[in-house]
Parts: sequence; structure tokens; C-alpha cells
Amino acid sequence: MSAPVKPASDVAAIAEAAEILRRGGLVAMPTETVYGLAADAADGEAVARLYAVKGRPSFNPLIVHVSGREMAETCVSAPPLAERLMDCFWPGPLTLVLPKKEDAPVSELAGAGLDTLGVRMPAHPAAQALIAAFGRPLVAPSANPSGAVSPTTAQHVAEGLGDRIDLILDAGPCPVGVESTVLAIDGESAILLRPGGLPRSEIEAVTGPLKSAEANAPLASPGMLKSHYAPKAALRLNAGTPEPGEAFLAFGPGTEACTANLSRIGDLTEAAANLFALLRQLDAEGYKRIAVAPVPMDGLGEAINDRLNRAAAPRD
Ligand code: TXA
Ligand code: MG
Repeated sequence: MSAPVKPASDVAAIAEAAEILRRGGLVAMPTETVYGLAADAADGEAVARLYAVKGRPSFNPLIVHVSGREMAETCVSAPPLAERLMDCFWPGPLTLVLPKKEDAPVSELAGAGLDTLGVRMPAHPAAQALIAAFGRPLVAPSANPSGAVSPTTAQHVAEGLGDRIDLILDAGPCPVGVESTVLAIDGESAILLRPGGLPRSEIEAVTGPLKSAEANAPLASPGMLKSHYAPKAALRLNAGTPEPGEAFLAFGPGTEACTANLSRIGDLTEAAANLFALLRQLDAEGYKRIAVAPVPMDGLGEAINDRLNRAAAPRD
């Protein structure tokens, strides 16, 4: 049986969702980036079920979602650089990886046994309402089977995990459309572990040039498996024109012959919001191969290219 889908704007649905979480259940929660699958961060059994339902490797830690600075500080210690970033970008699509506090209300499994935790304060009113109603931190990976395309609508969640979870809160399409930017903070330096919904340029205006994860291998995001965000179809990137049998996913004007377009006006914010839904749509239309036009690297283009590269990577 598929989980009920209820409007996230309904106060009674939020109260019911919080009650399900208190009993150790799993609730799909809209955020501004993608839909997350929420569980009580402190409940080891609920977290174990969450890993099982997603088919997620247990060495890949979860992001702890908080209602604000105060709740974050029950979990992690924030050096001044982290506080500046919270001031500038929270609530919003920025996850900060920080030293875990010994008495953090987060099960060992959720942090994959690391001495750090990723924390994020989502901007979406539905996520904020749910965390507030629950009163404590929620872990929430993207609400899709591990390795597949992340969900940006309640319908996507229902298709991937509907029969294995307890409730889906529906708030329509996610406005940002790619996951949060993940930054590790090491003293006064910031390391980019995953490009995402907050563009590098905005962060660098605060931090100066970011270090890259490759130069800091031990800190690299354990979740950055090479093949990820993958549709069923094979992807060919930076394609000028499609070959016979390929769908053509275009970017920008002047490509009338395309099967779909990430953004006809060449807007990277619009392209990010469309990316995962269009990959799913081309899968549903039965294409076995997708040629993708080049997408510029500025702004959200870095996150879009990261997801496309992983979606195109060789699979096991
Ligand atoms: O936008 C998002 O971040 C969404 C929404 C639902 O909030 N969540 C999300 O979660 O994308 P997930 O589990 O799909 O991705 C979490 C990423 C993974 O790459 C994971 O390895 C990394 O964050 N991460 C979490 N905790 C970490 C830690 N302590 N150290 C390094 N990387 C960490
Ligand atoms: Mg994910």
C-alpha cells in the first residue's frame, strides 16, 4: 500500500507527521532543494530503517536538519567562520560539516561513526513547520532509492519509495531543485564537499576561495559515490546535436529540435529546478540514451554539471 499524501500546508497533517516521527516512522518532507525522507535523528532504529528503505550504504552519513542556530548548537560546535556562514545563508541550501558534540541528540548510525555532523536549516516553510512541531533535529536524506534521481515532487517520492514509508507531505515542486551545497569547516577554512543550491560565488564572497575536497581526501564527502543521481537511460554530456535514437536535453534558446529544454531562456536557476524532473520524464518516455547540451559552469551550473557527471558515470 502506498503512503498517504497530505498537503504540507495543513496544520493537522504536520501534527500527524510529527506524531509518526515520534513513533519512529518515516515521513517525506518538502524542502527548498529536494524532498527529504525525515526520521528522528536520535532514534537509532528509525535511522536504521531509513538506511534500509533507501538501500543506502551505512558509511554515508545523513544531514541533520534543524530549526535554527540554537538547535544546531545542541549537535555541533561552530567556529566563528561557521557562525558567519549561518548568519549569511541560513535558512537556505547550505549544509555545514562541523565537529560533533559528545551529547548531540543524534544516533551514531546517522553520523556514520564520524566525529563530524552535517547540519542544515532548511528555508522551506513545510520543513520548518515539521521540525518545529517535532521539537528536535531530524535527519533527512533525499527521499529516493540510493543512487537514483532525487525527488523534486511528492509524486516522485511516491514512485520511488511510496510503499515503504509512512506519510508524504506535498508542497508541490521544490523551488531550488538540486541538493544543498555541503561545506566542511575546518577552523577558519572552508572546503567544498558537494556543489549545490547555494552557488560558490556567494559563499566565496564571505569565505574567500574555497578549498576543494580532492585536496582534503580524508574530509571528502563519503556520499559522493561516482555513479549517483542516475536515471535509467545512459547520458552523453556536452553534446552539440543528438545522434539517432537519442533524446536531446537542451539548454538555452535556438534548439527547437530538442526533446526537452532545461531552460529555454538559458537561466541556470530555472535549469536547476527542472533538471531532475526532466531526467525522470525522459526515462518515463522510454528513451534509452540522452544527449545533454553543454551547461555553463557559473552560478548553479557547477551543481548541475556535478549531478550530470555523476548521472553519466559508469554504473556497477
Ligand atoms: O538539500 C539537501 O541537502 C537534501 C535535503 C533533503 O535537505 N538532503 C540531501 O541528503 O541531499 P543526502 O543524504 O542525499 O546527501 C547528504 C550529503 C552526502 O553527500 C553525505 O556524504 C554528506 O552530505 N555528509 C553528511 N554528513 C557528512 C559529514 N559528517 N561529513 C562529510 N559529508 C557529510
Ligand atoms: Mg541523495
